Amino acid sequence: MTAGDSVELSIDRLVAGGDGLGFIDGIACFVALAAPGDRLLVRIRETRRDYCKADIVRILEPASSRVVPPCPFYGACGGCTLMHMDYKSQLSGKRRIVADAFRRTGALPDAEEPPITPLAPWGYRNRAQFHFGPDGALGYIRRSSNEVLPIASCPILVEPLASWLTDNAGTKAFRLLGKALKGSSRFIAFAPGGDDENAYIQGKDGELSLELAGKAFSFHVEGFFQSNLSLVPALIDEACRGIEGARAADLYCGVGLFGAFLRERFGALVCVEQDARALGYACRNVGKSADYAALSMEAWTLSAQARASFDYVLVDPPRSGLAPAVRAWLLSSRPPCIGYVSCDPVSLARDSGELVRGGYRLERLSLYDFYPQTAHVESYARFILE
Ligand SMILES: C[S@@+](CC[C@H](N)C(=O)[O-])C[C@H]1O[C@@H](n2cnc3c(N)ncnc32)[C@H](O)[C@@H]1O
Repeated sequence: MTAGDSVELSIDRLVAGGDGLGFIDGIACFVALAAPGDRLLVRIRETRRDYCKADIVRILEPASSRVVPPCPFYGACGGCTLMHMDYKSQLSGKRRIVADAFRRTGALPDAEEPPITPLAPWGYRNRAQFHFGPDGALGYIRRSSNEVLPIASCPILVEPLASWLTDNAGTKAFRLLGKALKGSSRFIAFAPGGDDENAYIQGKDGELSLELAGKAFSFHVEGFFQSNLSLVPALIDEACRGIEGARAADLYCGVGLFGAFLRERFGALVCVEQDARALGYACRNVGKSADYAALSMEAWTLSAQARASFDYVLVDPPRSGLAPAVRAWLLSSRPPCIGYVSCDPVSLARDSGELVRGGYRLERLSLYDFYPQTAHVESYARFILE
């Protein structure tokens, strides 16, 4: 089998990242925009020692989950990867992706498919990163490329972000924002939705405030904030449910989203975040009664603060998961309960495997479908020291 060959292939399941997986003479073949149950004619794009990647030439027999994607940019755009499947099948695909990651990457053979909390599958996304394409046209990054794909609409954006995009598609946005962004080729847009009918645009707007689960939060439009606000209260509730004690830590705290709720349940709270501006907002959002460290987690594990004993440690790392130093700190400091919020099933599975082999029991694992139409999935795992 070499690049350029055309072969017939049945898709068995989805894998992390959203590709469909099939087998050609026992060799794994990953196909973008495929659905489990599809029978396809594919062209091999790339071969490696023990797997290959292929593109769909023709759908010979479509999976029963296939639907016509309503977005005219789907397939070319690098954002959504599952819009060709009905929503129910997207959810079951994600449950299997997570269970497979726990079994394979986490080496936890008994892992079962976790429950998933669904969402309205359209008009949900509160935060988007736009790029300036040719002639300053607004765009997203094209699939499997660094090029910008000009777009004029996006059905997963919350109102009023969707309307802002439609109104500003073309060269107008470039002229509007070009100077303020000082030559940057991209910018963030955020819209709280609900009663707030504004879209907040980096380069034009700075700080914004909103209420979530009954608490006020301020943050900078450029900085990290959850991009799906409608499911966040359920995630906060699960991450904080049934726990209290003397001391907790909110690690990778961002602007203090979880810390604001943990503060009420624990006598003392430490919030750690490497982005100094985000930590400044955390001080405002969580309040003066917590302790803060503007450090990388790797550096913080060596600090005096990290030598305290914690009843609950909540971690919410970026996609790469916990750094080895942070895993080692958890396993030596041995808090009785660890909460892990994750946006990447593979790094979560790797870290879960280490925690379980280090003496923790995975007490629960729940998925939240923060990003319908994409293969991304948010998870909460809770570990109890045995
Ligand atoms: C997924 S976000 C979570 C933020 C927050 N928990 C929330 O839900 O809004 C991850 C955060 O970790 C921070 N971060 C990334 N790498 C870090 C590191 N090595 N040490 C400390 N913070 C880090 C990022 O700046 C970001 O704010």
